Amino acid sequence: MLQVPIIMTITISTTSKIPETNLVIPVSGNGASQNSLKSITDTFGIPTHQLDRDFKGESGEVFPFYSEERKIYLLGLGPEPDFAKTLQAFRSFTHNSKQKLGTKLAVSFLHQNLNPGQEFFIEAAINGILLGTYQIGRFKTEPEEAHPLNPANDNANIAICVEDSLVESAEKLVQKGKAVAETQMQMLNLVNAPANKKIPTHLAGWAENSGKTHGYQVTNHTKKEIEAKNLHALLAVNRGSENPPAFIVMEYKPRSGEAKHKIGLVGKGITFDTGGLSLKPSTNMHYMKSDMGGAAAVLGTMEVAAKLQLPVHLIGIVPSSENSVDALSIKPGDVIDSYSGKTIEIIDTDAEGRLILADGLAYMIKNYDPEILINLATLTGSAVRTFGFHAGALFSNDDNLASQISKAGNETGERVWQLPMWDCYKDDISSDVADVRNYSGLPIAGAIGAAKFLEAFIGDHAHWAHMDIAGVAFGSNEFSQQKSATAFGIRLLLQYIENLIESKT
Ligand code: BES
Ligand code: ZN
Ligand code: ZN
Repeated sequence: MLQVPIIMTITISTTSKIPETNLVIPVSGNGASQNSLKSITDTFGIPTHQLDRDFKGESGEVFPFYSEERKIYLLGLGPEPDFAKTLQAFRSFTHNSKQKLGTKLAVSFLHQNLNPGQEFFIEAAINGILLGTYQIGRFKTEPEEAHPLNPANDNANIAICVEDSLVESAEKLVQKGKAVAETQMQMLNLVNAPANKKIPTHLAGWAENSGKTHGYQVTNHTKKEIEAKNLHALLAVNRGSENPPAFIVMEYKPRSGEAKHKIGLVGKGITFDTGGLSLKPSTNMHYMKSDMGGAAAVLGTMEVAAKLQLPVHLIGIVPSSENSVDALSIKPGDVIDSYSGKTIEIIDTDAEGRLILADGLAYMIKNYDPEILINLATLTGSAVRTFGFHAGALFSNDDNLASQISKAGNETGERVWQLPMWDCYKDDISSDVADVRNYSGLPIAGAIGAAKFLEAFIGDHAHWAHMDIAGVAFGSNEFSQQKSATAFGIRLLLQYIENLIESKT
């Protein structure tokens, strides 16, 4: 149900074989008076002064015209396009031109003189076009008309036109753009799925299926096994729910060759967050179906790493539950146990994400001892109030790791910004009756308090980072009127891993 198979063909064409279909020509740079536009005006016989007046090449600007039988779109990428801007321009273009595009589209990089290091344009274009075909109305009885470039249509084709010398690298970039987009679209479906169609065991089922398809190991622990393993904090959050919890453990190693690093990823998998007995107000509660955005980032990254056979050893853990209201729900004031052995005083049952992560992190360290430990979670409203919908909050006990993650965020447009974890914030989690409490009780520095709580469960692990992605996992975009999923984190983690691999070789 969640699969988005890419059956359409994506081909590479060179100068001699540009298909006679609708054509998109990305244009980067400032205004029309530059080389790439000159080559376009020459090729298609457009008067330079007119194009100069009508097309500025601004990011996302579209200039359509006809040349003989075909329609050509100039697509502005802005003055200094990077990966993120290029991806966004192609994504919006494909989405917005739905009615006008046919089932076949060519993208020409022949006028752009791609310099070495700029091949990322190709990957961004493919990734953007595929994401631009995404449709959110999965539960409509009368489905909206499919996008003509719908990847599930075997008739659809995208042709990427490049110079002969770039054919080989274009082939690889197209494969990568396609692999990532396919997984991202599944994660969009998963995060957008409502809680009555997405319970913890569904996440587990998705992981199992993905592991079988792409050759990585997935162990799903049942409620009984979760009990036997003493994952008490996960069980405490699950007490109020009719649906059993899930504890998903995934392990990926490349089929051949050496894995250079061992990285542990932990993602918050709350399939719906009512707040528990500390019930949330109803206004935006429906958005809490997205409280498994961290889990989606981890599930997606595992799958793409396996598809691309990255030379890295990855362990992914997703603790998952609903946070519901029931006579059995944990109550404010309760003291619960945790996998680590530490006791936790519950001040607010709505601070549930940090509880399940506490078990996920401690389990990861004890059983897998990863060299680098990264967790992602839609953890606090405070992170949303701080950064809005434009950046996640980053916390780390290792400044080098933090800067590598920030760099990957800037490179992919999935930005994060570091906040402090100074000792002075420790009081926020000190309890009179237990080892820690899950909330300070004060409406201040909420994202930092949550990070300090998680820190109490990583022991002496020296390379840990936490990303609070509450504001960015679910946001406004072209797919929907209301907020919807973004698949935030997959690109960022992949980029971080790829940079790490490169820096060692
Ligand atoms: N899932 C929420 C955080 C959230 C808020 C995610 C907005 C996405 C958008 C989390 O479990 C939560 O409820 N956090 C509380 C914690 C508080 C009670 C200490 C919050 O941030 O208000
Ligand atoms: Zn909550
Ligand atoms: Zn939550």
